[in-house]
Amino acid sequence: MVCGLAAAAAVVLAAGAALPAVAADGESSRPAPGASGAGDAYFPFAGNGGYDAVHYDLDLRYQPPAPAPAPLTGQLTAVATVTIVPTRHLTSFDLDLRGLTVESVVVKDRPAEFTRSGDELVITPKTILPRGRAVDVVVTYHGATGRPLDIEGALYGWVTTRDGAMVASEPEGSMTWYPVSDHPTDKATYDVAVTVPEGRVAVGNGDLVGSSTANGWTTWEWSSREPMASYLVTASVGNYELRQWTTPDGLPIIDAIDRDLAPAASAGLAQTAEMIAFFETRFGPYPFSSYGAIVDDDSVGYALETQTRPIYSRSASEGTVAHELAHQWMGNSVSPERWSDIWLNEGWASYAEWLWSEHDGRTTAAENFADVMAIPATSSFWQTVIADPGPLGLFAGAVYDRGAATLYALRQEIGGEAFDALSVEWPTRYKDSVATTDDFQALAEELSGQDLEAFFDAWVWTAGKPALP
Ligand code: ARG
Ligand code: ZN
Repeated sequence: MVCGLAAAAAVVLAAGAALPAVAADGESSRPAPGASGAGDAYFPFAGNGGYDAVHYDLDLRYQPPAPAPAPLTGQLTAVATVTIVPTRHLTSFDLDLRGLTVESVVVKDRPAEFTRSGDELVITPKTILPRGRAVDVVVTYHGATGRPLDIEGALYGWVTTRDGAMVASEPEGSMTWYPVSDHPTDKATYDVAVTVPEGRVAVGNGDLVGSSTANGWTTWEWSSREPMASYLVTASVGNYELRQWTTPDGLPIIDAIDRDLAPAASAGLAQTAEMIAFFETRFGPYPFSSYGAIVDDDSVGYALETQTRPIYSRSASEGTVAHELAHQWMGNSVSPERWSDIWLNEGWASYAEWLWSEHDGRTTAAENFADVMAIPATSSFWQTVIADPGPLGLFAGAVYDRGAATLYALRQEIGGEAFDALSVEWPTRYKDSVATTDDFQALAEELSGQDLEAFFDAWVWTAGKPALP
């Protein structure tokens, strides 16, 4: 049915007539190529225009590296089926993909032309794709995996490890392992199947659908029904022990703990259920259908809040566990609309660490705030504009600590009642979506009835140490 209609559209076009004018959003109704980026000033080619990706079905086969001294490289063989809904009549469109070899692209069951240009996989289907009509794009690809670096030089993306891979892709590293519209504005659901040598475990986001073994290979199937930003997708592979349990409130948990790690490495996970219950009192109901942790014996140098299943490098400390858990509300359910909004992720998660520490009878939030405010005004710390830190400043200390201090100060400014309402309403109103710093200010103003222009100006939009409220 879909094919027939598309063919009809192509015939109309060939006859020189325009497709029906259906664009109501100001976009031209004339068929055109989709844009090569989502319009993010920090990563102009991340994400794409002209369509929404609504679902990814990833079928990966991964051969990890041989033991040392063999090179630290693996082999990935994959088929990615991306369901897209054009937002205009499309003559061609892009997916983001860095490296790897594309063997074929099939759109609506017909082979499509494709070219590679920088990190763009440019796809030209046989016929124009009409606006609003979902189509499957099937990309078959393979390649040697390595240890990709982000613009700051940190490991990210599909990071090959001796026993598998640590997959942590913030901000735009998912393109290192699958063809993707790699920007938080284009959230989608996922089914991910990873086939690995028997004995290895592949851990994804969301629910474990099952695993099956044949001919020395085990396929692990994971499913995420809640929309997810691409940087939060993982499919990590290692010598993990899977621990499946349920919180007293009935939330299914799957932890994947590297068997090569000492028990102390995962001791920080012990209070996971208490932490979830505590953050629910602050931020509202836990936003997803499952949770858990991946603790790998290798290191990318940081932890990442991969959706429903954060990944930790070598050990999961209690503070970091609280931080990555808080991200499930603050960053994952409500995500940054632009990468410049990153302080809304890291400020909230760091502030949540303060809340947990105080709740647990250690350093209070007031003490943590005082520590930040004790940093001299002359320190370079205060020179980061946290609502626009630049692509090289995404993970600057100030984004975390000044971000947390900003939220603490905002509580002083608008009062506990309005701030507590804001803490729940923010991840509720923008659930499964994205929002900006301006959206956050507007919500704080709505809930407090105060004009907060001067406050936000001083705390997030201006370099220099702000005065205490
Ligand atoms: N969002 C992570 C956290 O604070 C940090 C990710 C760092 N990523 C990077 N590419 N350096 O939990
Ligand atoms: Zn964080």
